[in-house]
Amino acid sequence: MQDKLSALVAKATAELPTLKSRPEFEAAKARYVGPNGELTALMKQMGGIPKEQKPIVGKLVNEAKLRLTAQLDAALARIAADELAAQLGPAIDPTLPSPDTGPGTYHPLTLVREEMCRILRKVGFTVADGPEVETEYYCFDALNTPADHPARDEKDTFYFPTSARFGNVSKKTPEEKYLLRTHTSSVQIREMLKGPPPIRIVSPGRVYRRDTTDATHSANFHQLECLYVDKNVTVRDLKALLDYIFVSLLGKDTKTRFRPHYFGYTEPSFEVDLTATHLPKVKKPWIEIGGCGMVDPTVFEAVGYDSEVWSGYAFGMGLERLAMLLYGIDDIRYFYQNDLRFLKQFA
Ligand code: DAH
Repeated sequence: MQDKLSALVAKATAELPTLKSRPEFEAAKARYVGPNGELTALMKQMGGIPKEQKPIVGKLVNEAKLRLTAQLDAALARIAADELAAQLGPAIDPTLPSPDTGPGTYHPLTLVREEMCRILRKVGFTVADGPEVETEYYCFDALNTPADHPARDEKDTFYFPTSARFGNVSKKTPEEKYLLRTHTSSVQIREMLKGPPPIRIVSPGRVYRRDTTDATHSANFHQLECLYVDKNVTVRDLKALLDYIFVSLLGKDTKTRFRPHYFGYTEPSFEVDLTATHLPKVKKPWIEIGGCGMVDPTVFEAVGYDSEVWSGYAFGMGLERLAMLLYGIDDIRYFYQNDLRFLKQFA
């Protein structure tokens, strides 16, 4: 038995360093330690070994197994390193001047974001920014989204451990947790807490959700939020602004429609669909583009505004969805892969 084990280890020591690819590695692994492998076959012979020798032989078998596993690990690590080196290509000298690749281009999301901000600035909105690391108060509580609301579920939201500290993001209460904001609506609260109305802000930015990536979902995407607070603001104003924005961005044939919906922070609330079948590649007659509504009095109370005096509207929408419509992009993953063949199409 001892001889057989030594022979097996010796064979592996000679063979494993010569393996060149993952398939070769997998085949060798199966031959040595797989269910039908040589080591497994030897282990099966343990049954025939006299009882008093079993502890010694068992120890030898274990040692052989450890050595084989270590050699297999080393072989796999070497193959992975070779693969990486092959991907990286020959070493480059970063001190050499780079070849002339021509001028750069803006990312399509940057283009849509800037265009939307330009459209909104024209009618009096200013750009506001908020932190991507948020607290439960700004992201949920102040937006009338109670603790048991599904949007706050651990399954949907990236929470930080309670021990996490972010000195530059202030908490409202000591108990609340930090999280990655799930929507840009948190900026509404931060802006309203800065001072009294009127308020007219647009806030584009990155948001995070525990979504599995596919052609239309990404755990990290971008939204654009608007908030308008003044006296006598009505749903008509909201609808007119959305019509103006989408006609400006997508062309005069673009139309919007509201469908009743529920959001804790607006009442009434709507989902916004738009129709833009004049755009290339747009087939569906109506496409859902965002949510909106009239700011709920509870939200005004949370920020100390008198809801008898002030009224307002708010809306939020996904920037990726807009860019996909505008440019006829059919897979959200293109935005994040930094493939120059994709990026160079946007001037
Ligand atoms: N926060 C919502 C979302 O992420 C979108 C939204 C709905 C924003 C209604 C609003 C609003 O400002 O009033 O799905």
